[in-house]
Amino acid sequence: MTTIVLEHVSKHFGADQISGDPYVTAVEDVSLKLNTGDVLAILGPSGCGKSTLLRLIAGIHKPDSGRILYDDVDLRDVPLRQRGIGMVFQEGALIPHWESRKSVGFFLSLRQREEEVPEKLQQIARITGIGLDKLLLRRPAQLSGGEKQRIGIARALARDLQVLLFDEPFANLDAKYRTEARVELKRLLNAFPVTSVYVTHDQVEAIALSHRIAIMRQGKIEQVGTYQQLYSSPHNIFVASFVGSPPINLFKGRSQNGCWQGENFGGYPLRRDLPEDSKVTMAIRAEHMFLEDGGVPGVVEQVVPMLAERHQLITVHLAGETWTLTAPLDVHIEHGSTIYCCLKKDELLFFDSQTGVRIG
Ligand SMILES: Nc1ncnc2c1ncn2[C@@H]1O[C@H](COP(=O)(O)OP(=O)(O)O)[C@@H](O)[C@H]1O
Ligand SMILES: [Mg+2]
Repeated sequence: MTTIVLEHVSKHFGADQISGDPYVTAVEDVSLKLNTGDVLAILGPSGCGKSTLLRLIAGIHKPDSGRILYDDVDLRDVPLRQRGIGMVFQEGALIPHWESRKSVGFFLSLRQREEEVPEKLQQIARITGIGLDKLLLRRPAQLSGGEKQRIGIARALARDLQVLLFDEPFANLDAKYRTEARVELKRLLNAFPVTSVYVTHDQVEAIALSHRIAIMRQGKIEQVGTYQQLYSSPHNIFVASFVGSPPINLFKGRSQNGCWQGENFGGYPLRRDLPEDSKVTMAIRAEHMFLEDGGVPGVVEQVVPMLAERHQLITVHLAGETWTLTAPLDVHIEHGSTIYCCLKKDELLFFDSQTGVRIG
């Protein structure tokens, strides 16, 4: 049983590995709380600090400032052995890295002393429905990337670890395998309630596996919440645009007489306290725009049928603005034709264009 608390954690590096910048803030003032059994996904673009944050939580990096507490004890005061942390990386290395000597002998020792294979490992094999037993008889060199990851995860769970940290473990797998592996891991995490942090840049994976998602950008956590919260109540433009597919539609505009006025349409009431002529960005998701006579005209640029979702995505443009809306599959829409779009006013989001902060 382990709760993890991060209090104002920051981490800098002397020189950036990629850009060569002399000083990099990889993680900046991050505060988080994970309860026992939580699965938190850290989602963000490449280079935003996800791996560094995970390594801080693992105790591999030390924070420059701030504290990390495991069950109210500063991680620095918890001996390595007692931390009970397992890590699974993209490259398939089977950690805890500080026990690498043991890891090397793992496959062999299992092969020679089958009766000592923990009951738990059998349970894991049953839950995942994969022939772990067979896999265990092979050496790492004889395992595919996906199999190595499965063994890594199974082994971490079989060892009674309290905290499992994943750094894009399935990123190197092909799409079909990745989906399967994700389902298996979800089953395992349900069956073994360890506290988990799952780093990914893939939002489908984050949604599938986690209870909550932390959106990270340039070292900072922008927002933490369920996917639903992030999707419908983003705190800023970055979260609004990062979450959801297709990306949310953004329209530039200004406040005029208490209303938002865009380049091609407008007249939607805004917060009263905004100074006249403030720059305001309006955002609306594709599924909240629809076809209707008398709406805003747009010239059809692209039509993409989404068979599973039973709709088509239509991208249109008008006088320098482009947006995407959904339409039923059975409506025939010609490229280059003009269609008329309306939007659900209740679903509009407004952001301060300068700061990106949500204002309505
Ligand atoms: N050991 C290191 N030394 C110098 N810079 C680093 C080191 N590790 C990471 N960085 C830099 O910190 C930033 C965040 O990196 P990282 O945590 O790996 O991001 P992510 O996992 O989100 O892709 C990047 O600019 C990266 O180049
Ligand atoms: Mg990384």
